This record gives sequence, structure tokens and C-alpha cells, in this order.
Amino acid sequence: MTLPRESVPALQLENLTKVFQVGRASHGITAVNSVSLTIGRGEVLALVGESGSGKSTIARLIAHLHNPTSGKVTINGRLIPNDLRGAALNTFRKDVQMIFQDPYGSLNGLNTLEYILSRPLLIHKVATRQSVHAQVCALLERVGLAPGAVWAAKKPHELSGGQRQRVVIARALATQPNLILADEPTSALDVSIRLDIMNLLLDLKEQEQLSMLFITHDLSGARYMADRVAVMYTGYIVEIGPAQQVIDHPQMPYTQLLRAAVPKPEEGRHAEAVEARGEVPDLTNLPPGCPFEPRCPHARAACREALPGMYEVGPDHFVRCILFDPALIAPLSMSP
Ligand SMILES: Nc1ncnc2c1ncn2[C@@H]1O[C@H](COP(=O)(O)OP(=O)(O)OP(=O)(O)O)[C@@H](O)[C@H]1O
Ligand SMILES: [Mg+2]
Repeated sequence: MTLPRESVPALQLENLTKVFQVGRASHGITAVNSVSLTIGRGEVLALVGESGSGKSTIARLIAHLHNPTSGKVTINGRLIPNDLRGAALNTFRKDVQMIFQDPYGSLNGLNTLEYILSRPLLIHKVATRQSVHAQVCALLERVGLAPGAVWAAKKPHELSGGQRQRVVIARALATQPNLILADEPTSALDVSIRLDIMNLLLDLKEQEQLSMLFITHDLSGARYMADRVAVMYTGYIVEIGPAQQVIDHPQMPYTQLLRAAVPKPEEGRHAEAVEARGEVPDLTNLPPGCPFEPRCPHARAACREALPGMYEVGPDHFVRCILFDPALIAPLSMSP
């Protein structure tokens, strides 16, 4: 039986794992570890976490730029095989588009915007030779670069960082994708234009019913953009739930630490010193227990024994921390 398209998630990851083998080391780097999540149709999921936690690797696995070591990627209800090629790979690339952090590196400065945008339109047969100019102009205007005909004649070196990122977004939209993987799309931009780009992405999401994975270091950006937020630490999802709950009321001690590190000048609050104790574990040799245990202010012996499961702490809100294990909470709350 085929389910109606609306009820199938745009993206589903099941136990996705990526181990990079580096040189002759006996243990590879486990960059992504048993990640399971879904993104609904028209939903934005933000992925946050410190540098090296595995965020970009997840996006690259979804975009089929890496093959997973194990686990499954399902897009619009279709399982993506590891040996995707030919016409199937072309269709996949049309549906799933990536926007990278660096708008300077991702556009070839020698070509006009007309050329840059007409290529995906023609390759994916979204436009014909006759219609392509009008479609390039329409795309430019959709990302706020009007009149399109004037912008189409320009080259990337004539554009500011924000304008370039608009072109990168237009290029991603050219193939009429339904899933966008945006890897830190605003972090290379001036603070003053970050909000413009986030608003553009949100407008496009509304108009086109786009689903989006939005990767960011910035918790307030995640809160602004996303319906739900997933927090990563050493390749694991450690907290996932509605954006407002995860950012404003984080439950996992790691998310609480991330949040404490955000300065709030308007409240006269500087970033609190992040706990100095303990270190991030070695990704080539992860401990058997909670990876955050060495840094966690609430750590106890049981945290070192086994990787905690994900416990539900509120509607659609899950945390990987034994503090929320019902089997532990019950005896604790009954003790005098
Ligand atoms: N191609 C690769 N080969 C070997 N190791 C890799 C490769 N790509 C990523 N890694 C390692 O995997 C881990 C996760 O990297 P990743 O780029 O996914 O982190 P990230 O969360 O995106 O970090 P950042 O916030 O700095 O962008 C890191 O330890 C990184 O060094
Ligand atoms: Mg990254």
C-alpha cells in the first residue's frame, strides 16, 4: 500500500552511523553514532552542538556525499540505497539540495549568475532553452534580487556576502527540491544580515512547503528558525524536542551547559565559564557510558556503565541521560 505523500516524513534516519577510517589506525573516528530522527513535511529541524560533534557528517550522509557505515536514510518514504547512481542519483540530487556555510567558496567567480542558475535548471530539465532566462530572473527575484534581469548579468565578485548567499539559495531552489540541508548558512555572514537570510529561508519554507535541516552553532538562530531542535554530542543525539522547550528549558546537562555559554548582553549577562572539568572523549575510543559524563556536573557511577537510552521528558521531547530513567527516578523519589 502506498501512503499519501503528506503523511510520509520528508526525512527519516534510522540508527545512522559513520566511522571514518583514518590511516592504519585500528579504531576509526565515529563521527555519527546510531542517529535516529525524522523531519516532517514543511518542518525545520535545527541540529546544534559543539565543533566536531558530527553535524556536517549527518548532512553529508543525507546528501549522499558519504556512504553510511550502517543505518538507513529514507527520503520521502524511499530508502536511499548506498549504490545510488545514474538517473536515480540525478533524481535524488534534484529532491535534496545542500546550502553550505561559505558563499564565497561555493560560487565560481568567473561565471555570471545567469550561467550559474541556468545550469541546474537545464540539467534537471526544469527549464527549456526558451524559458531558462525568464526562470533565472524569477529565481533571483524570489530570493530578493530584483530586477532579476539586472542581477543575472552580474558575477559573484560584484556581490556582498549576503547577496552571494541569496544566489546560493536560488541555486538550491532551482531544482524544486523538497528537502534542504543548510549547513551553517549564516555563520560566514555579518551579524546584521544573518537575520535577513534566516527570514528568506523561512519565507521560502512557507511558500514552497520545504523541509529543512538547519545546522548551526547559534542556539538563538536555532530557536528562531526551527520547529524542533536536536542537540549532538560526540556523534550522538543527546536531546531532541520542540525548539522552544529544548532551547528555553533544556533538560540534558550538556544542553544546559551550551545555553549557559551564550552571552545575553541585553540582560547584562556574560557567558558563564564553561565547566573546566573533564574533556570531550576521543572519538576513536568512546567510553561505554554517557559520553558527557567526564564533564557533567551531575555525573554518578552509573553514568559510566552503559550508554543511556533516550527518555521522554515532555511531549515529543527526549533526553539521553539516566537522570530521567524512570527506574532510577522512582527509587530516588521514594527514599526519605
Ligand atoms: N572525511 C573525514 N575523514 C575523517 N574524519 C572526518 C571526516 N569528516 C569529518 N571527520 C571527523 O568527524 C568528526 C565530526 O566532524 P563534523 O565535520 O561532522 O563536525 P561538525 O559538528 O560539523 O563540526 P563543526 O561545527 O566544526 O562544523 C570530527 O572529529 C571530524 O574530524
Ligand atoms: Mg560542520
